[in-house]
Amino acid sequence: MKFRLMLLTLSLFSRMFGQSIYCDEINQQISSMGTFPFGVSSGDPRPHSFIVLTQLNPFKIMNGNLVKCEVSKDPNFLQLVAQKNQIPGADNGYSLKFDIGSLAEAQTYYYRFIYGNDTSRVGRAKTSCEDCKTVLFAVVSCSNYEWGYFNAYGRIARMENIDFVVHLGDYIYEHGPGVYGNKDLPRKHLPGKEIVRLEDYRSRYAQYRLDPNLQDLHAAYSFITVWDDHEIANDAYKDGAQNHQAEEGAWNERKNTARKVYFEWLPVTENPAQSIQRKFSFGKLASLYMMDERLEARTEQGKGEDDNNRSILGDAQRTWFSNEVLKDSNTLWKIWGNQVIFNPVQSPPAVVKALKSKKNNDMWDGYSEERKQLLQYWAKNKINNVVILTGDAHFSMGIETRFDGRTLGIEWVTPSITSANLDERISTFKAHLVERMVRKKSLNPHVNYVDLCNHGCMVVELNEQEAKNTWYFERSILREGSKLKKKKKTSVKAVKN
Ligand SMILES: [Fe+2]
Repeated sequence: MKFRLMLLTLSLFSRMFGQSIYCDEINQQISSMGTFPFGVSSGDPRPHSFIVLTQLNPFKIMNGNLVKCEVSKDPNFLQLVAQKNQIPGADNGYSLKFDIGSLAEAQTYYYRFIYGNDTSRVGRAKTSCEDCKTVLFAVVSCSNYEWGYFNAYGRIARMENIDFVVHLGDYIYEHGPGVYGNKDLPRKHLPGKEIVRLEDYRSRYAQYRLDPNLQDLHAAYSFITVWDDHEIANDAYKDGAQNHQAEEGAWNERKNTARKVYFEWLPVTENPAQSIQRKFSFGKLASLYMMDERLEARTEQGKGEDDNNRSILGDAQRTWFSNEVLKDSNTLWKIWGNQVIFNPVQSPPAVVKALKSKKNNDMWDGYSEERKQLLQYWAKNKINNVVILTGDAHFSMGIETRFDGRTLGIEWVTPSITSANLDERISTFKAHLVERMVRKKSLNPHVNYVDLCNHGCMVVELNEQEAKNTWYFERSILREGSKLKKKKKTSVKAVKN
């Protein structure tokens, strides 16, 4: 009763002073915290620039005060290279994004924010290389707050010499508490309902960003991110989503709200269309292509019928991708930050029977005509060394990309940070049985690694000879700060034309 009274007072107080950025539960948590309760983040590292971002505590806003951002070569801020100011505004939830330019290539910098008498924690960001010999980065996806502790995020934060982190989406989940998660853990979604409106989405990001592991990772390394479906609603496509119902309002409104809040919380370069389609260059060593496989152009998922007219990328984005890949003919590695599994993977007959479906229509399997177009184009133009990095699946897999008798590259699927693996949905015994069946060469001759039961991340290293991948698996997501369970290493040799 006492707690509810406190919430009510806070709610009234917040709304009286125009601080209705977050739900009451988040307001209750942050009202006694400092100016920067959500930490700091950086992203989109390029040879001479990166983005830095923070969100102010609405309870600490002082009219007329500027937020100062400082970037330095040293962690003590004695060698400043940039100082910028911005006026915080309620329109974007007191989110402050700075584009930092004129930096030196392949150099580590430190950044912080100052507001009134308060200074944020110090973040670290590294510009990318222009004449790269090697690039090393982590790959992550699918961090559901209710399924467990973000130990894998914490592990990456403590790794040394990572250049950046690629996040393939499902950074947040839209469900209300208890809908999709481990009911035994004291980690329940806020606000206590499915997120639909502006305040809901902001509150959900705020909750995730109060997580210490995620905060540490953002402070340690720059992110390169794309959204998948759960940043908006499950199985999202251009004109709707499986988890969007008419009574929740207009889809376009929800989509635009989710997109706006994504840009408020993730260090993605601002652009008028709020597009996440972009390319990162690492000299002649590699290019990284990031695209929108949900909101831009994706047509509705089929139900297993003919999918000739279905598209994930849309014509404009596919043409851009094809042109960029062709321009990069002399770039060794073509890295694609891809949201859903690209290559066909056969399910064992028992699974097909249980699911009453041969393929997952939300993945590229449901858009096979467009997949064929991409493969044909790569084959015709002799595009080699394509490395597809995939999220969404909640398992780990290594799949050769084959077309017309040729191997065009590899697809590495990253495990979820916490979202449910197969063994958390059916029993561990059954999940291992399925794992053995999927692995069978008679069923999937092009699949060379399968793990359906572990959470963690991937760390990818590119050099002029090979692309290497290490899967890191956590011992447990049910306890904070778990130990490393095991690693699995794999690599592919570069094909030289
Ligand atoms: Fe997911």
